[in-house]
Amino acid sequence: MPDRRGGGVASYPRRVKILLTGAAGFIGGHVSEALHASGHDVIGFDLRTGADVRDGTALEEPLGRVDAVVHQAAKVGLGVDVADLPGYASVNVYGTAVLLAAMARHGVARLVLASSMVVYGEGAYDCADHGRVRPGPRAATDLDRGSFEPRCPRCDAQVVSAVVDEYAPMDPRNAYATTKLAQEHLAANWARETGGTAVALRYHNVYGPRMPRDTPYAGVAAIFRSALEAGRAPRVFEDGGQRRDFVHVRDVARATVAALGGGKPGSLAAYNVASGEPHTVGEMAEALAEWRGGPAPVITGEYRLGDVRHVVASPERTRRELGFTAEIGFAEGMKEFATAPLG
Ligand code: UD1
Repeated sequence: MPDRRGGGVASYPRRVKILLTGAAGFIGGHVSEALHASGHDVIGFDLRTGADVRDGTALEEPLGRVDAVVHQAAKVGLGVDVADLPGYASVNVYGTAVLLAAMARHGVARLVLASSMVVYGEGAYDCADHGRVRPGPRAATDLDRGSFEPRCPRCDAQVVSAVVDEYAPMDPRNAYATTKLAQEHLAANWARETGGTAVALRYHNVYGPRMPRDTPYAGVAAIFRSALEAGRAPRVFEDGGQRRDFVHVRDVARATVAALGGGKPGSLAAYNVASGEPHTVGEMAEALAEWRGGPAPVITGEYRLGDVRHVVASPERTRRELGFTAEIGFAEGMKEFATAPLG
């Protein structure tokens, strides 16, 4: 669980040596650029260049040369089915455990972990009678008849979506989410036992240049962008009214650099990394289609069982303690992303 002690705004002026796992990935590549731009030395470590975080021996040499680790290497996305479970557990859980044990051996005492807003599950909601509530998964029978909004788990009344802060209860609903939460817990164990400082960044819906193309593991922004590139209309599920916080990858990279100065020895501190400017999936599809010059999005009414309806983040703690505020607004970011190269 995140540490509740507040702190001043982070500063990490020292030029440090950093092991960056997942350096060749979408977010990792931007983090690498931002670290360099801030004057840090970066040692990249990535499966694409033959370095596997599950291999403790391969970690020995680089960990002997660094002051901090930024851990981005992970199996991402939603997966296809339960056959994906061992892969998620192996890369995300076992890989993080191997990395933390190796960090302890080398006395590397600072970790920034790429976590995700998926650890929250369904976002926060307020019921007129019951206050803050946490709706469970939506029923297929409701979704089938086009009733997409979650309801109060106590009285079944309509609820109003609210912002999630870092103390919201955890409710991971798929393999990826479960393994991201396990990573946070392992990092907290490591911090407690070694006196190390761990910061978990709960990235919201990251988008931007070099985002991987449409795959079963891709986020919705990449799926829409790939469709438009192929001349197809973005297919918007549900009624398009589901809200997310789309945060630009260069802002995410800046937040990640700022996190090197955050946290407290002996504990894990978690932070939302979000734009603070939520939009619906329908609005995102429209913005991309407009900047790309069509075709216009189609609202299909289809749904994916297990999708959450709204996840809207509070960026407040991150602003206060890491000094991070997103700089790239929705209109500007989507305009760039509409024609930016994909990965
Ligand atoms: C996404 C990521 C998750 C990541 C999180 C935060 C995936 C699959 N999900 O979760 O790993 O941790 O952001 O960055 O990578 N939708 C459509 N049309 C489509 C596909 C999706 O309308 O073709 C809708 C979905 O129904 C959902 C919304 O878009 O309502 C978001 O979908 P998606 O980006 O896949 O998942 P998130 O739950 O936001």
